[in-house]
Amino acid sequence: MKQRFRGWGRLAAGAAFVLAVGGAAAWLAGLGPFSADGDRFRSPVGAVPATPQRPGDADAGYRALVNAPYVGCGMPYSAWRRLAPETDPADLLPGREGRNAELPYFLTAHVNADGVEVVATNCLTCHAGRIDGELVVGLGNAQADFTADPRRLVTQAGAYVRGPSETAAWQRWADRIEGIAPYIQTETLGSNPATNLTWALMAHRDPATMAWSDTPLIDPPPERPVPLRVPPWWWMGKKNAMFYTTIGRGDHSRFMLLASLLCADSTEELAAIDAYAADIHAFITNLRPPAYPHPVDAALAETGRAVFAEHCASCHGSYGAVSSYPNKVIPLDEIGTDPTYAMAATDGGLDRFYAWVEDSPHGGTVRAAPARGYIAPPLDGIWAVAPYLHNGSVPNLAALLDSRLRPRYWRPAAPQSYDPDAVGWHVEVLDAGKDAFDDPVEAVRVIDTTRPGYGNDGHLFGDRLDAAARRAVLEYLKTL
Ligand code: HEC
Ligand code: HEC
Repeated sequence: MKQRFRGWGRLAAGAAFVLAVGGAAAWLAGLGPFSADGDRFRSPVGAVPATPQRPGDADAGYRALVNAPYVGCGMPYSAWRRLAPETDPADLLPGREGRNAELPYFLTAHVNADGVEVVATNCLTCHAGRIDGELVVGLGNAQADFTADPRRLVTQAGAYVRGPSETAAWQRWADRIEGIAPYIQTETLGSNPATNLTWALMAHRDPATMAWSDTPLIDPPPERPVPLRVPPWWWMGKKNAMFYTTIGRGDHSRFMLLASLLCADSTEELAAIDAYAADIHAFITNLRPPAYPHPVDAALAETGRAVFAEHCASCHGSYGAVSSYPNKVIPLDEIGTDPTYAMAATDGGLDRFYAWVEDSPHGGTVRAAPARGYIAPPLDGIWAVAPYLHNGSVPNLAALLDSRLRPRYWRPAAPQSYDPDAVGWHVEVLDAGKDAFDDPVEAVRVIDTTRPGYGNDGHLFGDRLDAAARRAVLEYLKTL
């Protein structure tokens, strides 16, 4: 049964991003400056300007997040229950209504137009994670498994589908998965393909009408997704743009609902989702990180605060009673971390998808315009968000602050557990990369930093400190 849960987790892929639609407000002015050469699909590096956001109700947002059908297609409920007769109590969430109260947190049920009860993956497939077994809503899911072909689960479910209405519901979902399956398989467990998934969905949809086409209408993205770690939601309260490259400009509530693109087949469906998008945004921006659960040496952390103020705050901001956050994108040559993701975003090869965003019903209120660098993120709750950097290439903060400790080949220790000394994951360091493992089940667990996109170089700011200062900063980071 666990096995099948994980199988469905893969399918999560199906859920990703969505663009909701609604009134064309005058957000254009707030969409941020174009790059120096006036390219509307690029943003300059440096400070990211704030844009006005629609107000929303955070409590209503949580209810919508865990109950509303913003992903409108999936497998019939009856087929799901044949695959997984019971829900693990550890997967239940408070605040879920009706059928959802008995479903695992990553699935949401609704009754479709033909009267078929359908279950679909929701945002929490990727945006809820566990630390030492505890489920944390808003933490990126660093264990999600997108390494297998999602069509396998579709076929499994198909065996349990009965009658014309269920078959039609299943078929609609199966067609979407068929369209995106080639673009969402990662080579490492925990790596997340959401960005590529979004481009693949756009390739299959007419931006003007949202109508789905089984054959792509524009060139689909490259098949292999660039590896990404999912950022925690609680940073969004401070960030002026969404995503590592700050590509998400304008109305964040609409950009975040790109996850509905899997099944929203008309502008009316998008408008229905948009009606509660600002509430979900309000929930996300009000979310606070969990407190560090282990002892902290307060005196050492206080020493660390001063080191941080001198060496780190110019990029990451300050914390405590008087806090600040500069919202700065650091150019690739200065940050030195793996450039693959930011380069792919800005080298022109994805511009057709940025044009799709512009041509979509929300084009006036959102703009896809990445900068050629990475945002220096807020560090709130940083103790919890391992593995580190945008590609998850570094297992813990001790290694992030001292590049000599970063393993070239590694995997999370099994069973996975939290390491309060290194602040992050207990790790098993390996002598060789994926190629050394014949068994594919073993190979997908290996983080091989010599593979494209997985590099663990750069961000050498901790190396410049002496050992005592590094130790102090590490202690301070636990308190954020
Ligand atoms: C298939 C996995 C997946 C699903 C499903 C998903 N996301 Fe995400 N989300 C990601 C990844 C990966 C990123 C980081 C991408 C990047 O920064 O380039 C992200 C980033 C975000 C961010 C920006 C965070 C930041 O700090 O910039 C927000 C907000 C967000 N998602 C909201 C949502 C909402 C709301 C939903 C459901 C409607 C959703 N996501 C569904 C994977 C997913
Ligand atoms: C010049 C700007 C700059 C300075 C100075 C700087 N950082 Fe960073 N930091 C960044 C950027 C940009 C990233 C994101 C890099 C990436 O994800 O590829 C980052 C990432 C991080 C992360 C990982 C975040 C994540 O998403 O996993 C931590 C932790 C961190 N920095 C801590 C520090 C500490 C501690 C210092 C001081 C010793 C420091 N930084 C100094 C720019 C800076």
